[in-house]
Amino acid sequence: MQIRAEQKEDFPTIELVILKAFENAEMSDQTEHQLVGRLRDSDAYIPELSLVAEEKYEILGHIMLTKISIGEEESVKSLALAPVSVLPSYQNQGIGKSLTEHSLEKARELGYESVIVLGHPGYYSKFGFQPASQYGITAPFEVPDEAFMALELKRGALEKVSGTVHYSPEFSQE
Ligand SMILES: CC(C)(COP(=O)(O)OP(=O)(O)OC[C@H]1O[C@@H](n2cnc3c(N)ncnc32)[C@H](O)[C@@H]1OP(=O)(O)O)[C@@H](O)C(=O)NCCC(=O)NCCS
Repeated sequence: MQIRAEQKEDFPTIELVILKAFENAEMSDQTEHQLVGRLRDSDAYIPELSLVAEEKYEILGHIMLTKISIGEEESVKSLALAPVSVLPSYQNQGIGKSLTEHSLEKARELGYESVIVLGHPGYYSKFGFQPASQYGITAPFEVPDEAFMALELKRGALEKVSGTVHYSPEFSQE
């Protein structure tokens, strides 16, 4: 399996992968593919951090990391991890893990310092994510404390920031 940056010609296939991945997902409104489309057209988009997992020329999964800011501190380069999608018949085979690890490594290489995710604590803690509240970081919406998580890509990065996460407006548009 290969992990690589998405290309324009992949967009229709990625849309299908996202739709199928979230088809039966709890806590989903099945509009994640539209969010990805909006984010691609926004200033938050980083082409190198929108990745696909591919095997024998078939796209099996996708992940996207986009720019956010935390509190009033603009100097710490932060990202949101969302969404992650793996085709249902390929789930639980390590593809999500591989996409997540690759994206975090690439983000570190590009000089990003922290990542925020809203998701299952049992899943994301394996990558080192901790409740964002431990860093004094809060979500701009109601969310269970343990589901809103943060990761330092650079040691100490989150000691310099606190406050509310500002997502790009594309996250809240319908
Ligand atoms: C969540 C998702 C991206 C994980 O990718 P994956 O390739 O199936 O997962 P991996 O094989 O890397 O990891 C499997 C582990 O994740 C756990 N897992 C899978 N889906 C999960 C979910 N929705 N919530 C919590 N844990 C989950 C499995 O129980 C397994 O745990 P284990 O390693 O302790 O046995 C994938 O299942 C998916 O696309 N789900 C539907 C869309 C979704 O919910 N996306 C995440 C929110 S943005």
